[in-house]
Amino acid sequence: MDHKKLETLLHDMTLREKIGQVFQISGQLLAEDSAAMGPMQEMGVTQEDVLLAGTVLGVFGAEKICKIQKEYMEHHPHHIPLIFMLDVINGYRTVYPIPLAQGASFLPELSGKCAQMAAREAAAAGLHVTFSPMTDLVRDARWGRVMESTGEDVYLNGQFAKAMTGGYQGEDLAGEETLGACVKHFAGYGAPDAGRDYNTVQLTERTFREYYLPAYQAAVDAGVALVMTSFNTVNDIPATVNKKLMREILRDEMGFDGVLISDFGAIGETVAHGLSSDRADAARRALEAGVDIDMMSGVYPEKLEQLIRGGKVSEDLLDEAVMRILELKNKLGLFENPFKGADPEKEKTVILCEEHRALAREAAERSFVLLKNDGAFLPLKKGEKVALIGPYVSRKQLLGGWSFLGDAEDTVTVEEAARKLAPEWEFIFAKGCPVLDPGTKLVGFGSCEENEDEDQDAMWKAACDAAREADKVVLFLGEHFLQTGEATSRGILELPQIQQKLLREITAINPDTAVVLFNGRPLDLRVVNENAKAILEAWMPGTEGGPALIRTLTGASEPSGRLPMSFPYCVGQVPVHYDEFPTGRPYHAPDENRFLSKYLDIPNQPLYPFGYGMGYTTFSVSEVDLDREEMTRGESVTAKVTVRNTGDRPGTDVIQLYLHDVAASVVRPVKQMKGYQRITLEPGEETEVAFEIREEMLRFYTADGTWDSEPGVFEVMIGESSATESKKSFLLR
Ligand code: NOJ
Repeated sequence: MDHKKLETLLHDMTLREKIGQVFQISGQLLAEDSAAMGPMQEMGVTQEDVLLAGTVLGVFGAEKICKIQKEYMEHHPHHIPLIFMLDVINGYRTVYPIPLAQGASFLPELSGKCAQMAAREAAAAGLHVTFSPMTDLVRDARWGRVMESTGEDVYLNGQFAKAMTGGYQGEDLAGEETLGACVKHFAGYGAPDAGRDYNTVQLTERTFREYYLPAYQAAVDAGVALVMTSFNTVNDIPATVNKKLMREILRDEMGFDGVLISDFGAIGETVAHGLSSDRADAARRALEAGVDIDMMSGVYPEKLEQLIRGGKVSEDLLDEAVMRILELKNKLGLFENPFKGADPEKEKTVILCEEHRALAREAAERSFVLLKNDGAFLPLKKGEKVALIGPYVSRKQLLGGWSFLGDAEDTVTVEEAARKLAPEWEFIFAKGCPVLDPGTKLVGFGSCEENEDEDQDAMWKAACDAAREADKVVLFLGEHFLQTGEATSRGILELPQIQQKLLREITAINPDTAVVLFNGRPLDLRVVNENAKAILEAWMPGTEGGPALIRTLTGASEPSGRLPMSFPYCVGQVPVHYDEFPTGRPYHAPDENRFLSKYLDIPNQPLYPFGYGMGYTTFSVSEVDLDREEMTRGESVTAKVTVRNTGDRPGTDVIQLYLHDVAASVVRPVKQMKGYQRITLEPGEETEVAFEIREEMLRFYTADGTWDSEPGVFEVMIGESSATESKKSFLLR
């Protein structure tokens, strides 16, 4: 439809119809005998309002969506189609590793493919928009939503934001296999005080702009169709009604011209925040801030008519929002084809098809991070008798907290994969204990006890017997999937006590034990580190997690993931991240000086730093070599290292470039990653890895608030993780 027609359509709509467009309803409200209508009615939302709504959240399935779309359009005075939106996060039915795990792959293009395949399944199931990617920068492992992010690094997050947006949206939003992407949560949602979800966010303007905005910007630059506001306040104002943030920063500065949607109920919540005086005030503030769609707080349908008729809010603001929504419907091709990619037959064939499963396997394999491997304990060797023990050995739920469309029944477990892929290997299987300590209650989730009827003593004994009988043990331990995701902040970052007890007992019986971890956040791994000979971080690996793990443990695949977030020594260090500022009193162990920046009882360094990860072979990295010692703004410096595979297997390494501005008008981080390269080498092979350092990589928000570089000395560090100290310097003239 050309723009003129959209303008005519807008002009012909009644006020009530226009308000309908900015109102998002949950699919439950469309159900015939909807119980969900009750609370909405209390807010003054009528059945007619529901029937005029512009977008729907939470309905899926081609047949169902086509039916609703047809009936809805017939009823609508201007036959405007609905947009169906849903959280398709790490996959639709084929579930890929959680986003944090995808971050660990350091392979944004692979995540782009996962997004593309997820869009293919979801579009066949009738969906038009996904609430992904989440690009919130995260530094605090207590926050349960770190699992939805790709980690703590500005550069890495930007790469993933771009790749995922491109993967979902493809070349053409109107395409039958694409989804509109929605980057979230704007802004700063990943920095809640004390890691408690929905809590206050306080960031200096420079930190906010330099660390938190770039990944959203990367999505905007990639043409993301929607942005979602965040629940939190940013510097004392709830983001959702923050006009400066949404209009000046997001739209004017960052150049976003798509649809801005609130998070679930977030407009109404600004009353609880103590910013809006009542729901009418909240509606006015949100519209003035440029929030186009009210996700489920009901504030727009309840209050906008009276605000506009009473002259409190200009109808032009509403028209502006409605036009953006109509434009999105147009870009999605819904006026020409309201059913778009929805196809019940295709839905059956693409969902969980072998191509998607193979990609899920590859993505899982690439996301695994080998944290420890004493004496080349892994990979396991054929002929060894290996006990696979722990609550995750035959667990189906490997999908993570945001895969409510994924069905755990589709998952291939570790045990199933071992039996199928490695029938000639000698494995013994035992569960040992449940995931959670008996009696654990997760607030809001009720009781999470599973298989309560299992004989706990017998389970424990079978595990001990298996450990005794085997040459080696691999323990499969982790968090419960409900311990990560939204509203799952934790103050204790250890494995459940019962699993720690199992670890201690099994390793006492058989010290030749490795641990595979399933978790959605960095954990305090001290006990695991002390007791296990090898540690493989497997995150929540998705539908094909079992096969990916068996292939990795048996050496058919090699772990090459790197940590996208620092793993703290213990919770007392959190938030801990590599790109911290230097202090005036830096501490370097084992300095005995009392007045230095340190703890009395724990180290400053995380247990495992950002960028860290091993493979099954070893590499040497030479000292950094620079081709020049000085450069002007128009020039560049090339930094090189020689990397050699010093082991006896082929392997992959991720060589990372870090820069440090030694003295500037504001304090600069001790190092910041500015690039990385994955290289694969045969045993004994070596290669040169070169990075070109250009002036724009040296820019930051200077003391006067401009984005620029400053002349002076820069240190260049290249190595295998953020802990690298090998450095050389050059001068920017
Ligand atoms: C609330 C979450 O914060 C957001 O990420 C999600 O997209 C919406 N609910 C819709 O499910």
